[in-house]
Amino acid sequence: MPVIGFGTASTSSTNDTKEAALEAIKVGYRHFDTASIYGSEEPLGEAIAEALQLGLIASRDELFITSKLWCTHNFPHLVLPAIHKTLQSLNLEYLDLYLIHWPISVKPGIWEFPYPEEALTSFDLKGVWKAMEECKNLGLTKCIGVSNFSCNKLEKLLSFATIPPSVNQVEMNPTWQQKKLLQYCQAKGIIITAYSPLGAPGAMWGSNNVLDNELLKEIAKNHGKSFAQVCIRWLYEVGVTVAVKSYNKERMKQNIEIFDWSLLKDDYEKIAQVEQHQMWKNGPTKFISDLRDGEN
Ligand code: A2P
Repeated sequence: MPVIGFGTASTSSTNDTKEAALEAIKVGYRHFDTASIYGSEEPLGEAIAEALQLGLIASRDELFITSKLWCTHNFPHLVLPAIHKTLQSLNLEYLDLYLIHWPISVKPGIWEFPYPEEALTSFDLKGVWKAMEECKNLGLTKCIGVSNFSCNKLEKLLSFATIPPSVNQVEMNPTWQQKKLLQYCQAKGIIITAYSPLGAPGAMWGSNNVLDNELLKEIAKNHGKSFAQVCIRWLYEVGVTVAVKSYNKERMKQNIEIFDWSLLKDDYEKIAQVEQHQMWKNGPTKFISDLRDGEN
């Protein structure tokens, strides 16, 4: 799994997503993160097809593609149809990684978003995970995992999983370090992928907390790097993978140029002291903090 993935959760148009993904392949990204809810599967698939046609990559196997099962399909009988739909949208034969997007199930036919409490129904994690295992066994995805799972939910999942989750994709950056979850996942051999590694500035769900952090700015200045490079390098050094989004060519290049320098011990100590806030207030439900199971 390439350490730095290209995020496609955005409000940009389909055409912008296709162009950005193609540009990302040109500048060297080989890991792409999408989800059925993002509306980016089709344009990403088109970009991959064009990259193959242009000879930017020799075969699909050079890419690592992640997609996610949406909450309205978090039911055992809806998992296989959902991955088939995702593969059809991407025009691919297999995914590299398929994730349960959120640990909740939403009744079909409810359009209010974030979903109101009455839209939620009990989440059959055991049944859904069995169907995820089936996706892997059928060769529809090489690996399976989860997103937005607490230690408590992972513990439950590990108690019955025949195939353990490879990845837990969660919000993580210097202002939401999730130390306990990181330690837990590392002990269990579950790779963390950090989403919103820059705090998603400019997105409707994001904030400027990371961007405006004075300490990060100071560390960036001392190293002659950008705040974004400091965040991504810090995530890399703590041992996680990253899904970072930029549809701007210069910034997408900048975000993968983090392998030829390192942070100092002093930087670490200072970053460890940064005040912690979960940026995401509303996810698919207004009760996102409940999903943390009181952790952090
Ligand atoms: P843009 O697409 O115009 O580059 P996250 O990955 O945390 O969700 O953050 C994504 C947001 O951060 C996008 O709005 C993106 O804007 C912006 N961004 C991405 N890379 C950088 C960078 N190197 N410097 C400043 N802003 C960036």
